[in-house]
Parts: sequence; C-alpha cells; structure tokens
Amino acid sequence: MQIFLDSADYKEIEKWLRQGVVDGLTTNPSIMFKDEMYDLEEGARALCQLLSPRPVSVEVTTNDPQQMLEQARIFARWAENVAVKIPIVNARGESCLEVINTLAREAITVNATALLSFNQAILAAKAGATYVSIFAGRVADEGNDPSIVIRNVRTWLQEWNKPARIIVGSIRTTMDIQHAALAGAHIVTIPPQFLPKMVDHKYSRETVRQFNHDAEKALDKIAQARRTS
Ligand code: E4P
Repeated sequence: MQIFLDSADYKEIEKWLRQGVVDGLTTNPSIMFKDEMYDLEEGARALCQLLSPRPVSVEVTTNDPQQMLEQARIFARWAENVAVKIPIVNARGESCLEVINTLAREAITVNATALLSFNQAILAAKAGATYVSIFAGRVADEGNDPSIVIRNVRTWLQEWNKPARIIVGSIRTTMDIQHAALAGAHIVTIPPQFLPKMVDHKYSRETVRQFNHDAEKALDKIAQARRTS
C-alpha cells in the first residue's frame, strides 16, 4: 500500500519525504487555501518539483466541463508528475465522466475525486481514471461505512481487471487509516498531523528509555572494573 500526503504544507511534506514514507501527494483548493498556497500554478509547480517523480494531484477549480478540460490540459503541462483531480459531478450534479474519459484518452493522469459511493467509483474507473478517490470521512458523515465501500470497490476492480487504484482520503482519525488499509485501499492519503501519532507510542518510548538506561549501566560497570584493576 502507498502513502500519500494530503497537504500543501511545504515544510511538513519535506519533513516526511526525508523519512522515506511518502509515495505521492494530494491537494485540493481547500487544502491549498488552509496552507496559504494562494497561487495555484506557482504552488503546484513547486510541489511537483519537490515530489518528483511521485504523483501530485491538483484539482480543477470550475464547474464548467469545457473549462475543466482546458484547466486539466494546462496543469498537465506544468510537470510530468501532475495528476489532475476531476470531481465525479460538478456542483450542479452534472456528470464529469466525459471530462475524465476525454483526459484519459489524451493520456493525462486523472484522479476522479469526491467519490462517496461504490457506484461513483466503478463509473470513474470505467471512464478511465487512473485513481478513484473515496472520501472516507465524508462517507461516514452520511451514515455509511467507508470500509464496506472500499472493500467492494477493490473487489470489483480485481474481478473486472480494471487498473484504477483506490485512494482513500478524508481521513479524520488515526483509526481511519488502519481501517482503509485493511479494507483494501491501494493508497491512503494522510494529513501530516496524523503521522506523528502513527509513529509514536508511549511504551516504545519506555522501551527505548529502559535500553538506554541499561546501556549506561553497562558502561558504568566497565568504568568501575577499569578503576579497580
Ligand atoms: C483527498 O484527495 C482530499 O484532498 C481530501 O482527503 C478531502 O477530505 P476532506 O473531507 O477533509 O475535505
């Protein structure tokens, strides 16, 4: 399973890249705004350079299918590792599958986003999306179990030999990551604030403390023996 960061926080991304656990990045306009990345092109180009050759998802910012296509083609020219995020429907509920399919046929990497159901995910996969992004937290907000959606989509992709990869996003708790991983996510995209919680454990600290303490005691013993010989 791969781990992506769901972030536009340059420092945090650099930090976790250095630790060797980041396989890619997802952003959206809300994340960019929160992380004070206001200039989309400048920000996306910098992130693509930082992550290269790992994929970086950048989302279109319009409701209009024709403008989505135009934006996507522009984004795809910014860097080789851009994946263009296209929502499954626009804010009016109109299908964006044709946009996904057109871009896929142009060999542009598409991340079909804002997916909240099995049906949306399989249609996006059929239309040619490279990634299908299931928003676990928002699925749960609606009273549904994200693990069931993820597991069913994974089973369907395998059964029908579809190459699309499941990204699970909208992570709200550390347990969401574990649930997504065990339900069959190919990728979980994680907001950086959860990574320290995943790494740390108070009993690991205690274990290391005990080992270091005993190593010091061993050194004391050697020093003592030298003094008395
Ligand atoms: C994933 O690609 C999205 O950027 C993100 O996880 C959306 O989640 P949200 O529910 O926190 O907005």
